[in-house]
Amino acid sequence: MRFDTPAGSNPVDRQKVLGQPVERIEGHLKTTGRATYAYEQHVAAPNAAYGFIVGAGVAKGVIEAMHIEEASACPGVLAVITYANSGSFGPASFIRTTPLAGPEVSHYHQAVAFVVAESFEQARDAASHIHIEYRRQDGRYDLAEQFDSAAVAPPYMLGPSESRINDFDTAFAQAPFQLDETYTTPAESHQMMEPQATLAAWSGDELTCWTSTQGTGVAAGDLAATLGVPREKVRVIAPFVGGGFGSKSFIHADVILAALGARAIGRPVKVAMQRPLIANNTTHRPSTIQRIRLGATADGTITAIGHEALFGNVANGWQESAVVPTRHLYAGANRLTVARMATLDLPEGSTMRAPCEATGMMALEVAMDEMAEKLGMDPVEFRVRNDTQESPEHAGRKFSLRQLEECFREGASRFGWSERKAEPRAVREGRWYIGMGTASAIRGALAFPSSARVRLAPDGLVTVESDMTDIGTGSYTIIAQTAAEMMGVPVEQVAVVLGDSSLPATPGSGGQYGAASSTAGVYAACVKLRELVTERLGLPADAEFVDGTVRTGDQSVPLATAASDGELVVEDFMEYGDLFQTFDQQSFGAHFVKVAVDVDTGEVRVRNTLTVCAAGRILNPITARSQIIGGMTMGVGAALMEELVVDKRYGFFVNHDLASYEVPVHADIQSQEVVFLDEADPYISPLKAKGIGELGISGAAAAVANAIYNATGVRVRHYPVTLDKYLAQLPNVA
Ligand code: MOS
Repeated sequence: MRFDTPAGSNPVDRQKVLGQPVERIEGHLKTTGRATYAYEQHVAAPNAAYGFIVGAGVAKGVIEAMHIEEASACPGVLAVITYANSGSFGPASFIRTTPLAGPEVSHYHQAVAFVVAESFEQARDAASHIHIEYRRQDGRYDLAEQFDSAAVAPPYMLGPSESRINDFDTAFAQAPFQLDETYTTPAESHQMMEPQATLAAWSGDELTCWTSTQGTGVAAGDLAATLGVPREKVRVIAPFVGGGFGSKSFIHADVILAALGARAIGRPVKVAMQRPLIANNTTHRPSTIQRIRLGATADGTITAIGHEALFGNVANGWQESAVVPTRHLYAGANRLTVARMATLDLPEGSTMRAPCEATGMMALEVAMDEMAEKLGMDPVEFRVRNDTQESPEHAGRKFSLRQLEECFREGASRFGWSERKAEPRAVREGRWYIGMGTASAIRGALAFPSSARVRLAPDGLVTVESDMTDIGTGSYTIIAQTAAEMMGVPVEQVAVVLGDSSLPATPGSGGQYGAASSTAGVYAACVKLRELVTERLGLPADAEFVDGTVRTGDQSVPLATAASDGELVVEDFMEYGDLFQTFDQQSFGAHFVKVAVDVDTGEVRVRNTLTVCAAGRILNPITARSQIIGGMTMGVGAALMEELVVDKRYGFFVNHDLASYEVPVHADIQSQEVVFLDEADPYISPLKAKGIGELGISGAAAAVANAIYNATGVRVRHYPVTLDKYLAQLPNVA
C-alpha cells in the first residue's frame, strides 16, 4: 500500500480500541519474570558457554604483545578470541569502530579479547590472566581544544551542514536587542537497564543471535556484513528489550564476539556486557559547544537567529548536529546555522534519545529565556510571538500540523504560569527559592516503510507478525490495538509476535518513528486481510468490521467464519510518497517546570513538571504518557547530573558505572504531568499518529535550567547545572 495523499476517514478513526488506555499486553510477562531477555534464552539455546569481554587499557595505540597462554590454561576456559584468530571484519552500516581491536586500538575499552568458559566466573577469572603490552599514542580527547581548527562538518544525512537565509550578520548587528552566548553540553551515556547482551548459536553455517537490539533487521544486516556471511544465513531474535535509548540502534561487540566464540567452540555462547564497560566500549551522546546569537526588536520579533555547533566524533561517525531543531522552530528572517565537526579519539559517539534536538534545545531554549528577559517579555509570550506555520528555512513549506502555541496556552493555564515572577529570587518558601521555567519541545516525526503479516485463525484469533521490537515502549500493545480496530475484534483476540528478523521487515525502534511506521504496516496488512475476508464471505468490500462480525445492511457474519476452511494469511507493507517533503513533519510540545533551590546549600529539588504535547493521534494514552515522562526525566538528568567526565590525559570516560554516572530516581522529581492535545495529523500515515518517544526530552533540560535561574538569578550555561557552577554566586543570606 502506498501513502501519498492525506489520510481521509478510515476504520481506525472509530477509536474503539485504538486511542484507548489499554494496559500493556505483555506487562504480566514482565512483572512475573516470564519475559525472556537475550541472556536468558536457555530454553531456546541450551548449554551455552559464557563469554567475558576484555577492554583495551589505552585509548589510542598499538598492541605490541598479547600473552594469552596463562588465561587459556585457566580452569574451564574453552576459547580466547583475539585479533590473532578472529579473522577480519567487514564495515557495518553506521558504526565505524571495529568490534575487536588489534593491533591498532582506536578507543579506550575497545574489546581486545573475548574469553569463553564453562562459567561466568571462570571466564572473568581467566580474563584477568591476559597480559597485554601496548605502545600508547597521543590522541585528541578535548573538544574545546579543537574549537578553533574544526571544519564545517562533511555532508551527512541531516541536511546541509551550513545554512544561510538572507543576511544574518547585518541583521544581527543592527538588532536593537542582542544575545550572544555560548553553551556546552557534555557527553552522556544511555544507561538503559538491560546491558548489551547476546546469546549466539550456529547450526552449520546458519547463525542465530538472541540479542538486545532496537532493530532486528538492522542488527542482522550489520552482523552479516561485519562477519562476512550471507545475510540470509543470519537470524536475530529480540522479543523483549530492556531499554535502548539509541544505544541499541546498532550492534556492538557483544554480538560479534558471541558469534565468533560460538563458532570457535561449536556450542552456544552468551555474554552480557559488564556495566563498567558500557560507557567506553559502546556509544554515547557526543558533547557539544554551541554559540547562539539572537537579534530582536523591542516587540519581541526575532530578526536574526544564529546557531553554530561544534561536536566531535571518530572520522565519518554520527554527527550530533545541535543546530537541527533551530531550522524548524522559530521564525526570523535572517538566519545562520553551522555544524562543525572535530575528529576525536574518544569512544565512538552515536545516537541517543532525540539526537540533535536534545542537545540543541538545551542551548537554544536557554538562549530564548535569556532574550525574553532582555526584552522584558514573558518567556511564553516571546516564544508564541515567534511561532510560525511556515518552515523557517523553506519559504512556502507548511507544517503538516503545528500547535505549538496551543501547547503553551494550555500548559500555562494548567501550570499556573501567571503566578511566576519575572524577577529571580522573588518567590521564597521558608528555606527554598521557588522558580518556574518553560521551554519548547520539537522533534522530527516521520514514518518509514514497514511491513506486517496478519493471520486470521478458524477460532477468530488475529495474529500480527513483524520484525519490530518493543524496547519497553509499548509496541506490542499499540500493534494489537491497531489490528483489533481494523478487524473489529477486542484487543484480547489479537496476538502479536515481534522481534524476529525472519518476520516481515520494519525499521525497528528508533528516531521516534517506530510507532507510526510499524502500525502503518499493520494497517496495510489488515486492509488486505479485510479484502480477503469479504471476498471469502461473499460480502461487499465496504462491509463493516465490528464486534467480531462482518456486517452489511442487515447481514452479519462472524469474522471467524471467513477462516472456517483454514487460516487466512496475508502480508503487506506501507510505503510513502513525498508528503514528508511537501510538509515539515514535527511533533511539538511545551514544558513547564517548578524547582525549589535551598537558599543556603543550593540543593535543587524538582517540584513538578508538566509537558503538553501536540503529536498527532495518541495511539494509547498510557504508553504515550510513559514515553513523555521517561523523556522528561532524562531531560532532568541532563539538566542536573548526567555527564560522562573525560579524562583528557588518557582519553576515556572516568565515571563509567551507575555509581558515578548519576541518573534521576523517583525521589528526585516530586510529580510529573503530561497532557496531549486532541490531534490527528493526516499527512503522516493512515493512523494520523506522530512520534512521541523522543519529544519528551527535547527542551526538558532547558526548562529545568530556566527554572533554576528564575529561582536563583544565577545563569549556568554549562551542563549539567551542578552546585560547583552556581553556589558561590548565590547571595549570602546568613
Ligand atoms: Mo534513537 S536515539 O534513534 O533510538
